[in-house]
Amino acid sequence: MKIIDTHCHLNDEVLFKDLDNVVSRALNAGVDKMVVIGWDKASSELAIKIAEQYDFVYAVIGFHPENIFDINDEVLYETLNLYKHPKVVGIGEIGLDYHWTKEQEKRELQKQYFIKQIDFANKVGLPISIHSREAFNDTIEILKQHKPMHGGVMHCYSGSVENINDVINLNLYIGIDGPVTFTNAKTPKEVAAEAPLEKIVVETDCPYLSPHPLRGTVNEPSNISLIVDAIAEIRGMSKKHLLDVLYQNSCKLFNL
Ligand code: NI
Repeated sequence: MKIIDTHCHLNDEVLFKDLDNVVSRALNAGVDKMVVIGWDKASSELAIKIAEQYDFVYAVIGFHPENIFDINDEVLYETLNLYKHPKVVGIGEIGLDYHWTKEQEKRELQKQYFIKQIDFANKVGLPISIHSREAFNDTIEILKQHKPMHGGVMHCYSGSVENINDVINLNLYIGIDGPVTFTNAKTPKEVAAEAPLEKIVVETDCPYLSPHPLRGTVNEPSNISLIVDAIAEIRGMSKKHLLDVLYQNSCKLFNL
């Protein structure tokens, strides 16, 4: 069994403090590669450091929409210029978060930094990992104006089945996370059933979003199999076939 966790935060101190054990549990669970995602300057630097330490770990660097309020262009581009490191495979997680940000002025600032980071990824030839929470329409609008030329993923896709095509038409993958396993989850299960197989990837987003039956615990890459199992069951397909396709999709997404 070979799985790629395309979105994890081993750079979060909860996981980083126990890094060797978290990584060995992941390897024992069949996780073959992990993509560590940054959310600000320090976490992007740490993602690269972890990727230097382990052959099978890669880094994605950038500013999460909740972390752009106290930065400026200098800090932004100082961070993004870390893209030159050979283990950096994408720019992320970038986007809009209207759940936590209610003020219009701050949402405008999120849009500006989102656009700057998409444009940068396009310029240097990298895919993007997109965080979009309660901001689907604005996210798609921006992406239509600033097309991700090297693809990317709608991380933890929380849209409807009807909106899947909006995402796919932008050359993006659909990221499926723990919610697909939740017993009360309706839309994530519908999305897992309907999304084209060749356009989905799996992510833990650990230490967050632990899948059922581990909800409420610290999530880690070793739990990703629970997400794969849920998708295989929903789609009525063999786990082996699903794993093969997910592996290919993930490699294509981040050019691994
Ligand atoms: Ni994340």
